[in-house]
Amino acid sequence: MTAPLIIAVPKGRILDEALPLLARAGIEPEAEFHDKKSRALRFATNREGMSIIRVRAFDVATFVAHGAAQVGIVGSDVIEEFDYSQIYAPVDLDIGHCRLSVAQPADALDEDEAAMSHVRVATKYPHLTRRHYEARGIQAECVKLNGAMELAPSLGLSRRIVDLVSSGATLKANGLVETSIIMQISARLIVNRAALKMRASELVPMIEAFRAAVEVRDAAA
Ligand code: PRP
Repeated sequence: MTAPLIIAVPKGRILDEALPLLARAGIEPEAEFHDKKSRALRFATNREGMSIIRVRAFDVATFVAHGAAQVGIVGSDVIEEFDYSQIYAPVDLDIGHCRLSVAQPADALDEDEAAMSHVRVATKYPHLTRRHYEARGIQAECVKLNGAMELAPSLGLSRRIVDLVSSGATLKANGLVETSIIMQISARLIVNRAALKMRASELVPMIEAFRAAVEVRDAAA
């Protein structure tokens, strides 16, 4: 009997766009997966021996990096933040587009960042934040939050935040202005490298199915 194959997908915005792609790639979760009231975390699919788990975006990368899931769907922000050597990201799924940006209160925009040697930043992305500022000769002291970064400036936690921006509505609603873009983001198919070697006969066709699904979708658009 072959070991089960686990696909990790993130809760939240990417999921709605990922489900049609999964279906085009021939993978459909059982009905309970779509039941918002269900407390289950692991679901069967139409494919024998293949399960789907729904976890937080950062945890998708952790499950796949450690081989607890063989395949996942996650934003390129998460892949770069962790930089796990065990994660291979072969397909840009061209969904979940947003950007990682620095934002500040509208009334603090006259600060000249180039002249600063140190900044304090509230973020879920300490690695990418430090890297961004290091490249500018500025040391970033990161205050790690897991959500609601936009509250930090008004409550005196930090002058700056680094967070995801999509429509910009959350920044606007909290009196913040985007001051620089660190990276553009889209969701990727990720695969555990060791699993890809050991289970190539299952995983290579799956990667190809996702690649084809993206092409078919884009051709139909
Ligand atoms: C993300 C992000 C911002 C918001 C940006 O949070 O952290 O808060 O979306 O989107 P916008 O530019 O369209 O307003 P999300 O709602 O995904 O929840 P989270 O705080 O759990 O990350």
